[in-house]
Amino acid sequence: MDKVRLGIIGLGRLGRKHAENISYKIPNAKLTAVCSIVQQELDSVSAEMNPKHVTKNYREILEDKDLDGIVIASSSQQHASMICDAARLGRKNVYTEKPIGMTLQEIREIKTAVEAHSGMKLQVGYNRRFDTSLRRAKQQIDEGFIGKPIQVRMINRDPASMAEFIIKFSPTSGGLVMDMLTHDYDCARWLVGSEAKSVYGLGGVFVYEGLKAVGDIDNCSVLTQFENGVIGQIETSRNCSYGYHVETEVYGSNGCIRVGTTPVKDRVTYMNADGVTVKCVDWFYEYWEPTFLAEMQDFCNCIIEDRQPFVGLEDGFRAVEWACAATDAVKNRKVIQIGT
Ligand SMILES: NC(=O)c1ccc[n+]([C@@H]2O[C@H](COP(=O)([O-])OP(=O)(O)OC[C@H]3O[C@@H](n4cnc5c(N)ncnc54)[C@H](O)[C@@H]3O)[C@@H](O)[C@H]2O)c1
Repeated sequence: MDKVRLGIIGLGRLGRKHAENISYKIPNAKLTAVCSIVQQELDSVSAEMNPKHVTKNYREILEDKDLDGIVIASSSQQHASMICDAARLGRKNVYTEKPIGMTLQEIREIKTAVEAHSGMKLQVGYNRRFDTSLRRAKQQIDEGFIGKPIQVRMINRDPASMAEFIIKFSPTSGGLVMDMLTHDYDCARWLVGSEAKSVYGLGGVFVYEGLKAVGDIDNCSVLTQFENGVIGQIETSRNCSYGYHVETEVYGSNGCIRVGTTPVKDRVTYMNADGVTVKCVDWFYEYWEPTFLAEMQDFCNCIIEDRQPFVGLEDGFRAVEWACAATDAVKNRKVIQIGT
């Protein structure tokens, strides 16, 4: 195979970035087909990247025989039906943005549909797994640097500058836990090598009153106990006043590993009469940019090498299973046992 021909469904905030990576930064990939229900997005990507097939109907992408792989970057609510349709239509290689579905019923249907089509490889967009620092941390944990892992702590704060977008985006996102925390949970689960056993949480609307009307919240903290005993603490916010801030820490019997302690934008330090300052990272894409390229490059390599993706169906399933329990725990302030 000379170039992997990809079709992408969804050209919004993230789909457009995937399209740019495929078109300009992945030498063995070709953006062959695009789909969006927003005409303006189709016009702009078509004019710039010149894909062969342009449509508003996602089924045309799934049925396009010219394609080696499909990238699903539509709104979260659409993923489950698109993944199931792709499986039923016999697509072999599918990348989907997270979360794979929004309910337990949806993820069970996805599991059934994908497993029934045994040749299908499904990659899930938990891009942090492609971060070089987190991978180094994972390797050190596995090699025993911190001894026995005891606690894992994640901080995930979206910038307040995104407020207007968040209030519009929330109704299709699955809510704060489903949308933001599955990244942290997936990362924590991977780092400590265990599945969640139980979950408890607290949260609420602290700043964006508009979220109440759509049943969402803007801040929460979730405690998780893993099967191997590790205690996980995930804290998230949608109104970080200073920018985008992500931190990871795994603490064990012999030491501790921390990734991304202070969210500095670059290596510039500003000095004047007010003192010494640095700028903060503005938003998620800036911080994780290399990981979006790396995961898409790996998707193409999986197709060429006919191997399973690094983040697959089971990971996507576990993250949503946890998020359903965590959402319930935060909403009803009770401890939820997972998988019972
Ligand atoms: N991995 C990450 O860090 C990360 C970051 C942001 C968003 N995401 C995920 O990416 C997905 C998209 O988020 P976004 O911020 O780009 O959203 P967005 O609202 O900007 O874009 C949504 C896109 O989906 C398309 N769409 C919706 N329904 C469709 C349908 N039936 N057929 C075809 N196209 C359809 C729209 O046309 C639009 O192009 C979400 O699932 C979100 O969770 C992941």
